[in-house]
Amino acid sequence: MADFLTKDKRTHYCGNLDISHNGQEVVLMGWAHRRRDHGGVIFVDLRDREGLVQVVFNPDAGENVHSEAHKIRSEYVLAVKGKVRIRPDGMNNTALKTGEIEVVVSDLEIMNESKTPPFSFDDEDISENIRLKYRYLDLRRPMIQKNLFLRSRLAAATRRYFEENGFIEVETPFLGKSTPEGARDYLVPSRIYKGMFYALPQSPQLFKQLLMVSGFDRYYQIAKCFRDEDLRADRQPEFTQIDVEMSFVTEEDIMSMMEGLLKSIFKVCLGKDLSLPLPRLTYAEAINRYGKDNPDVRFGMEIVDITPIVKNSGFKLFTEVAASGGVIKAIKAEQASALSRKDLDSLKDFVAIYGAKGLAWAKINANDWTSPIFKFFKPEEVENIGKKMNAKEGDIIFFVADTPKIVSESLGNLRLNLAKKLNMIDANMLAFTWITEFPLMEFSETEKRFVSTHHPFTSPVLKDLPLMITDPGKVRAKAYDLVLNGSEIGGGSIRIHNKDVQSQVFSALRISDEDAKLKFGFLLDALEYGAPPHGGLAFGLDRLTMIITKAESIRDVIAFPKTQKAACLMTDAPNKVSIEQLMELSLKIV
Ligand code: AMO
Ligand code: AMP
Repeated sequence: MADFLTKDKRTHYCGNLDISHNGQEVVLMGWAHRRRDHGGVIFVDLRDREGLVQVVFNPDAGENVHSEAHKIRSEYVLAVKGKVRIRPDGMNNTALKTGEIEVVVSDLEIMNESKTPPFSFDDEDISENIRLKYRYLDLRRPMIQKNLFLRSRLAAATRRYFEENGFIEVETPFLGKSTPEGARDYLVPSRIYKGMFYALPQSPQLFKQLLMVSGFDRYYQIAKCFRDEDLRADRQPEFTQIDVEMSFVTEEDIMSMMEGLLKSIFKVCLGKDLSLPLPRLTYAEAINRYGKDNPDVRFGMEIVDITPIVKNSGFKLFTEVAASGGVIKAIKAEQASALSRKDLDSLKDFVAIYGAKGLAWAKINANDWTSPIFKFFKPEEVENIGKKMNAKEGDIIFFVADTPKIVSESLGNLRLNLAKKLNMIDANMLAFTWITEFPLMEFSETEKRFVSTHHPFTSPVLKDLPLMITDPGKVRAKAYDLVLNGSEIGGGSIRIHNKDVQSQVFSALRISDEDAKLKFGFLLDALEYGAPPHGGLAFGLDRLTMIITKAESIRDVIAFPKTQKAACLMTDAPNKVSIEQLMELSLKIV
């Protein structure tokens, strides 16, 4: 009898065997993926993290081996010893990496039994709630394992890169004070200081700036961040950043350092050679051409301003919008005859989500155009629109007239919606764009004041400083985001290291001196003790992994994620706590 674990140690992973092992005796350990009984001969697909291999139990395998093999069920844990052989002619399984061989078992130990799993590992459509409840089983599936292995390689490549480039990894606290990242904080009540709370960090932003004041020069951390915000397919309440800060640098230095990181990551993870530098767009250009600051540039369909052509036309709706400072813009879906009249009507409801009061369209036929609004235009206006849009037979043009903001948002999102409907997106493409020159602040209708686009420590472009008083919305920031395939995978900025600039920004944001002192006095104090010029960036590691693995959801690249409603179905978090725990914290539920 074999003595597994102590003497007969595992020699190979199941999924790594191939014909080069023919004739060798091997010891394998793993899970019974499937068992088939073929009149005496029992076949089991044995699975471990590297894959499956077929193991064979012959009736003459030895006293107890064959009778034990009868007891094997799905997901039983097995150790087997046996000889690798080439499968008999015609028995190859080309779908399997190990499909040319099998292992003829001479020794078997059932190391553990398993209840029948709540789902079959071969199913494509398992309900996500069941997957998340039994996450430890879901994680056995090759698809998820592959994602987590890639995530680990990505993190390792990141650490290697920063190590090679002289960065120091520093851990920063989880129990801290609220940082102004813009989302809601997760709070942790203090037992010792009754009525006081820690906030979990939305990012290590202030700490990494302090590390620059301390002279570390180049910092990085693969950091957990916590944000209590509405969740979406690419958002989690706790997520991971590749967080970086550097001293004595410009935007260019940071961007090129980060491009180098991406080059390493894509080489290691996908074997792809990124060509650098990555393309750039200013914020204004991105909004003009794509209607979004996270444009998907894998396809064209750019937004075109036709205000000059139609502002004096006979279509009152357009002329009135133009007269009141609005704009009329259009996008062209090429060869879009697949869109039915019903589709066109439903698109009107789609743009309404973004505030558009209507959506006009025009279908280009061989000799004329079909459009509910073209009766209002003179022939030369129609011709000019056609020329400006470079319209061809089979195309459909969509128009929105409204304020610049509503027009950008509705056409920017319609563009994405149409590209998906018309299958225009090449799933194998990687389209990066830096977005630069963000506005430093934007006017918040709800708060009736300017708020930071990034955070209040972002440096303005210094030559825009005079605008801070006259036209704060026009001040540009030394801030940049990196967008990949329409997803914001990172963002950062040069920070303010000068006290006077910082007070000017605070006053434009209507943050009082007392308020600033209360919220982040420690940072302002530190800036007065010789803070070097500094800046940085953070990539969303989960989002990056998601794109590289082509995962549909951020949950498929996180081992133990939360649902869209921020719950963990496996552990049942969040949950009630005992009255004693509440008393200890002096808390009462109202
Ligand atoms: P920012 O808030 O832009 O910058 O975050 C950086 C990146 O983190 C990712 N990200 C998220 N990923 C998953 N779930 C979320 N809820 C989530 N929120 C953000 C995004 C984003 O680009 N301290 C600054 C960085 C800096 O200025 O250096 C910061 O946190 O990919
Ligand atoms: P109406 O006069 O409301 O029937 O609109 C005439 C056409 O103009 C319809 O096809 C509407 O969808 C379209 N339309 C209405 N409002 C707008 C708008 N703000 N932008 C673009 N098209 C619009």
